[in-house]
Amino acid sequence: MGFIRFSGVDFHYGPAGSSAVSILKGLELELAQGEFYVLLGPSGCGKTTALNLLAGFERPSAGTIVMEGHAIGEPGMDRVVIFQGDDSLYPWLTAQENVEFPLRMTGVGAAERRRRAATWLSRVGLANHGQKFPHQLSGGMKQRIQIARALVCDAPVLLMDEPFGALDAQTRTILQDELVSICNGSGATVLFITHDIAEAIILADRIGVMRAGPGSAVKDEFALDLPRPRNRGSVEFAAAYDRIQRVLGEEVRKVVTREAAA
Ligand SMILES: Nc1ncnc2c1ncn2[C@@H]1O[C@H](COP(=O)(O)OP(=O)(O)O)[C@@H](O)[C@H]1O
Ligand SMILES: [Mg+2]
Repeated sequence: MGFIRFSGVDFHYGPAGSSAVSILKGLELELAQGEFYVLLGPSGCGKTTALNLLAGFERPSAGTIVMEGHAIGEPGMDRVVIFQGDDSLYPWLTAQENVEFPLRMTGVGAAERRRRAATWLSRVGLANHGQKFPHQLSGGMKQRIQIARALVCDAPVLLMDEPFGALDAQTRTILQDELVSICNGSGATVLFITHDIAEAIILADRIGVMRAGPGSAVKDEFALDLPRPRNRGSVEFAAAYDRIQRVLGEEVRKVVTREAAA
């Protein structure tokens, strides 16, 4: 029995009827507790939509999404979202205050707040930058603070939508490796979205590849039992890359062909 379960989920924007373009159609997805699940798919296929549904930002047009036996309703502190880019920090708060912010909202006392925020700042390698404001930090540092701000709450579920998409390749690699060591053994259940196969293989317990839209759903799933941290240069990595590329490549080609014809 899955910890999180999408059953027969359809989604379209706007009113029901012939004019509504189907984004998701019959999406089935199951995440075990503590699992790191990566959704891969061509751009525009509906990955963010699936994440928004689990976050409670949108409602399914049909079907159900259940977490621990309860239907997903409003957004909640049990599901923390980490967005793409680095502009979601409060510019008028220091790094430390940004990380403390969700704890302040939930009524955690000042001393405890400071202690927990400092712990997470140091886990993401920013122990000495707590007093800086966002504009004084690099994109990679700001994304680390977003991660610290999400993890400081000890939320059981983390929803990450291409969180490293705006970073340069080198910073991205470093943050991927950091995320692996942070999440390893944390017990958090993670839904992570990307269109980068290598990123998916570094991070995932399981990868779901989505079809090109309209009416997308998971086409194929891959379980990855390679030990962590994973070696980007290994034979096993290359083999997994190749298997996934064949499935994803076919969907990306559909999008490219359609765009060329349009
Ligand atoms: N507010 C909206 N109204 C209508 N269509 C939308 C809206 N937001 C996104 N879409 C469309 O829904 C599809 C899926 O979008 P999205 O979930 O963001 O894809 P992905 O994250 O896989 O790139 C896209 O074709 C996009 O154009
Ligand atoms: Mg998206």
